[in-house]
Parts: sequence; C-alpha cells; structure tokens
Amino acid sequence: MKKEIVLSGMQPSGKLHLGNLVGALKNWVSLQERYECFYFLADWHALTTGYLSPEIIKENSQDLLINFLAAGLDPNKSTIFIQSMVPQHAELHLLLSMITPLGWLERVPTFKEKQEELRGKDISTYGFLGYPLLQTADIIIYRANYVPVGIDQVPHLEICREIARRFNNLYKDLFPEPQPLLTEFPKVPGVDGRKMSKSYDNAIYLSDPPQIVEQKIKTMMTDPARKRRTDKGDPELSPVFQLHKIFSTDEEIQEVAKGCRTADIGCLDCKKILIKNIFKYLEPLWERQSKLSGNLDELYEIVFTGSQKAMKRAEETLSIVRELMGLRYKNI
Ligand code: TRP
Repeated sequence: MKKEIVLSGMQPSGKLHLGNLVGALKNWVSLQERYECFYFLADWHALTTGYLSPEIIKENSQDLLINFLAAGLDPNKSTIFIQSMVPQHAELHLLLSMITPLGWLERVPTFKEKQEELRGKDISTYGFLGYPLLQTADIIIYRANYVPVGIDQVPHLEICREIARRFNNLYKDLFPEPQPLLTEFPKVPGVDGRKMSKSYDNAIYLSDPPQIVEQKIKTMMTDPARKRRTDKGDPELSPVFQLHKIFSTDEEIQEVAKGCRTADIGCLDCKKILIKNIFKYLEPLWERQSKLSGNLDELYEIVFTGSQKAMKRAEETLSIVRELMGLRYKNI
C-alpha cells in the first residue's frame, strides 16, 4: 500500500535548542517509519523577514542541516532538501497567487502579529504578505497529507486547505487537504523556568559544547524556597525536575522528588543526575554533529541528492497544474 505523505519545514533563522529537538525534530524522526516524509529547510521563508542579512541565512542553513541529520533524519528514509534548490515551489506559488484573494492573506492572524512583533524591521513587503501562500505551495506540491507543526502554524494550515479547496473547485480535484499533526509533547523549560526559547536567552543549544551544557544546568533555577541545603523543597516548583521528567528514568524521578521533599539530597546532587542523563541523550547527536561539520562535502551531497528527488516529485505535480491552468504548449 502506498504510504501517506508527511511534509514539514523549518526556517534557518537561528540555532536549534533542546526544546526544538524534543518538541519537533524527534517527532519528525519517528514519523519516518510510517510515512513517506519530506523535510526541508525553508530558506526563502527566512528571507521574508531576514532579507537584510543574507550571510546569516547561509550560515544558519548549514547548521540546521547538520542538526537535522544529527538528530536522526535519515536520507535513506526521507527526502531532505532545501527549498530554494527546488524552484518548482516558486512557480507553484506564482500560479496559486492568481487564484488567492488578497483578503485571505491579509486576514491570516500571523500577518498582523508578526508585523507588530517585528516593528523595527520593514516587512510591509509583498514577500511577507505571501508567506502563507509560499508555505501552501511547499505543502501541496507534494500533495502532502500531514504536516507536523507547532500550534502557531495552524492558521497557515487553514489557509493552505482553503487554497487547495479553491484550486480543486476551479480546475480539478488534485490536492488533498493537508492536516496538521499536533503531537503533544512535554513543554521543555529553559534554565530560568520559562518555556525554552531563543528570545528568552534561557536555552540549551544543540551546538553548546558539553561544558556549557553542564554549566547551564548547574546554574539553573530550582525551587526558590530551597535556599539552604537543609531546606525542604517542592520538586514541582523546580524546572530541573521538569527536565528530569523528560530525560530521567522513572526510578530517578522518584528518587530526586523524594530527596528534594525530605532535603536528603541537595540541588546540585539532583542536577548532577540530570546532567548525566542529558549527556547520555545528546552524546550521539554531538558525535554526529562533529562528524558532519568536518565533512561538509558529504552534507551538501546529501542535500543535493534530496533536492533532486524532491524536484522530480514537485515537477510531476507542477506539470499537471500548468496544464490545468492553460499553460501547456505542445510543439515547442
Ligand atoms: N512557517 C514554518 C515555521 O516558521 C516553516 C515552514 C515553511 C513550513 N514552509 C512550511 C512548515 C511547510 C511546514 C510546512 O515554522
């Protein structure tokens, strides 16, 4: 039986952290077993807000690609590619722009929100307005069924389905209506207890060397009521404990919870167990990252091959779209 298609992309707009790994990337990895997966780096999307710093886009793209592969995305199982290496996305974006009412794009909630958020940047551009339409092209060009994304992307999936429906009604039933895959993940807290995020400066990055990871955990916030070693604590108030719930064994979780409540163990003891487990979790990734960084030729080989594969599939869809929209010229 033909496998259903999963597609997702990430913008190369900054370093990935532990929260991205646990919340998104690991899910992508596990989907590889059941679906035919397409995973890509959305470098054009990064340009919509980052057009003033092209050099950063390139650097970030390389890093992100390394993270993708080190986390376990496997080029033998999935198609891994770069958006701008598959220009068919751009052509489909253009063709879809003919049938997309302006109001639909202006009404996407992320359009106004992002403009507010990035008020210092001039993003009153055509490209930025078209962001969700480009995303639509990314998805439907592979006739994807599922799109694993965070909740923030749901409005983009909604407009994607609307546009797919409009195309199907106007021309021919070609595109499935893709559904978001919102898998529930434990929220990964940052070192200050708030959600781990680049913008809070509280993240443990996948590119952090072990000593930095250790340092970050050692200085992490714990239950503020536990000022002295002899004070009893409430593990539920400590972000360190939240991380234990993700990375430690059930036994260890019980043990540190009890030790915290009774003050039998100190915060540093508790953190040491966490450090050991996070190291164990990250070590294979670190190893693969350093191998890949030392072999960029292989890295690009993988992504060129992936992009060729993606292009073939994208072209199949696009040739049907061209024909349906009156653009097939025989004899030339
Ligand atoms: N907009 C997505 C984000 O910022 C990235 C993205 C671009 C994407 N095209 C996509 C995600 C297609 C899923 C499918 O996270």
